[in-house]
Amino acid sequence: MKGIILAGGSGTRLYPISQVVSKQLMPVYDKPMIYYPLSILMLAGIREILVISTPSQLPLFQQLLQDGSQWGLKFSYLEQPRPDGLAQAFILGKDFIANDSVCLILGDNLLYGYGLTDVLTRAAQLREGALIFGYRVAEPQHYGVVELNDAGQVVNIEEKPSIPKSNYVVPGIYFYNSQVSEIADQLKPSARNELEITDLNRVYLNRGQLRIELLSRGYAWFDTGTYESLHQAASFVQTLEQRQGLKIACIEEIAYRLGYIDANQLYQLAKPLAKSSYGLYLMDIINGDNYNVQVHHNNLATSANRFKQEFLKAEKLTL
Ligand code: G1P
Repeated sequence: MKGIILAGGSGTRLYPISQVVSKQLMPVYDKPMIYYPLSILMLAGIREILVISTPSQLPLFQQLLQDGSQWGLKFSYLEQPRPDGLAQAFILGKDFIANDSVCLILGDNLLYGYGLTDVLTRAAQLREGALIFGYRVAEPQHYGVVELNDAGQVVNIEEKPSIPKSNYVVPGIYFYNSQVSEIADQLKPSARNELEITDLNRVYLNRGQLRIELLSRGYAWFDTGTYESLHQAASFVQTLEQRQGLKIACIEEIAYRLGYIDANQLYQLAKPLAKSSYGLYLMDIINGDNYNVQVHHNNLATSANRFKQEFLKAEKLTL
């Protein structure tokens, strides 16, 4: 399965903060927003990823994410000339998807919860039809809303209805079979002149090929389209990370724990970041996991630890 991160859009709801910089490059607490959807694709086991953004912002994403090999991934990049809708990602990404199935994730969606990795790895097995998720929110009218029958199957799906038929909405992560580009090609622009992902999902629904998995109340899903939701997402990450001493969506950690990079590579990634608590966190992973580190001639764990101590001393900080 391949992955697409769509980080386009004009971000006008966040003006003036998103006037110059794409919102998906903005921080959600201690890392750029795009790290969160990227971490989701990684946890699904997806390593070949297409990043789509606007012509002006795409070079910035390339600068940040590079070719992906530093994290054991492979990125390609494509411009979306105009914000013509989410479903356009599959038309633009047709050659990238080729005959594979694909997961689309929106660059501003944050998803977190116990058991998510299992849900994602199962979803990434999809070969037929489409799979979406359902999540309960208090204000469904801002999203794609699903109507479910008693068996929990989708009977209808509507984009931003003024009178929603349920509180279950569709978060910005979708799994499709390889026919998705063909189907997207047939879509007509909506009243707001966009190729709607909801219309695409409706085609799968009408073919009896749309599955939904409801995410239970233990999950957190944020979009970050307004000042409030951006702030709430950052507060959530800060609260949990500080309490547990574990980071959410730490790309380097995930790459290391999935075995995409070794301790030495992790150390090389951590060094330039070591003046931040993010970099120190990576150093700690090397220390804590040093039973996994093969005996390097320069003893990686010791040097990571020394690096940290020296930094703390220079900054007159203590543990
Ligand atoms: C888009 C989709 C909507 C979905 C939402 C999730 O909304 O059109 O169906 O529920 O993403 O974030 P938009 O960002 O275009 O308002």
